[in-house]
Amino acid sequence: MTRPDDYLMAWEDSADRVPVLWLHGFPFNATLWDEQIDGLTDVARSIAPDLRGFGLSAPTDDRGDLARYADDCARLLDHVGLTGPVVVAGLSMGGYLAYELARRHPQRVAGLVLAATRATPESAEGKAGRDAAAAEVRAHGVEAVADAMLPKLLAPDSYENRPDLVDFVAEMMLAATPEGVLGALAAMRDRPDSRPDLPGLDVPCLVIHGEDDQLIPVSEAEDTVAALPDADLVVLPGAGHLPNLEQPEAFNAAVREFLAEVFYGDEDEDEEQDDNGVD
Ligand code: MLT
Repeated sequence: MTRPDDYLMAWEDSADRVPVLWLHGFPFNATLWDEQIDGLTDVARSIAPDLRGFGLSAPTDDRGDLARYADDCARLLDHVGLTGPVVVAGLSMGGYLAYELARRHPQRVAGLVLAATRATPESAEGKAGRDAAAAEVRAHGVEAVADAMLPKLLAPDSYENRPDLVDFVAEMMLAATPEGVLGALAAMRDRPDSRPDLPGLDVPCLVIHGEDDQLIPVSEAEDTVAALPDADLVVLPGAGHLPNLEQPEAFNAAVREFLAEVFYGDEDEDEEQDDNGVD
């Protein structure tokens, strides 16, 4: 309460929520995070960009480069007035980008949520796969990549029994432009090896992985956690490569607990709030 002039004003200020930059995977867009933005609105101030060529972002060229995405994101944070560190949450390609952001703009990173991602660079076979996918996009458009990926994105059970989810994911993919997809394929193909950076990433990290991820095995997440100085691993049953969509409640619960830890420096949000008299 304050007493500006002649009345007692009550107000709410959401500035005490933890800022979270949500980085989508390939070939999605910011709507990937709808369940998190809604479900965590009481604890997180969410900033969820559409990367170049995805979702509603303006048309772009097809030059793909994680460094360029990372600089775009840093500029976006400036633009919304977040000049200090934020929690950076990335899924899959968004995780590759989170590592790049931490390399290029370490002062922006208060903590990391690394979902369905890996720190390893592209294998020779993977690089050839990216080039083949790019040729498909040039010849047949974005649909070609979307059709090939869709069955592998979700856990087999989600794919067979959750048509709404399948439609949502397909729609997200088809909203991508060919330039955006080509750029992202190049960015993923040429991504650096982030493993040497892991021991120096001295911020709290939460690694979340779907137990049934068909694109990135759980062992990659385990390796990442083992190399990070301050990381917890949550493996979600009943989820594939999109655990935030397939198991949103469990995903959000893990992030909620993590945010409490980063923000209040305690694993028990309620206890810490009581201790500090913060509500
Ligand atoms: C993603 O979900 O961002 C992609 O599957 C990542 C990849 O293909 O490496």
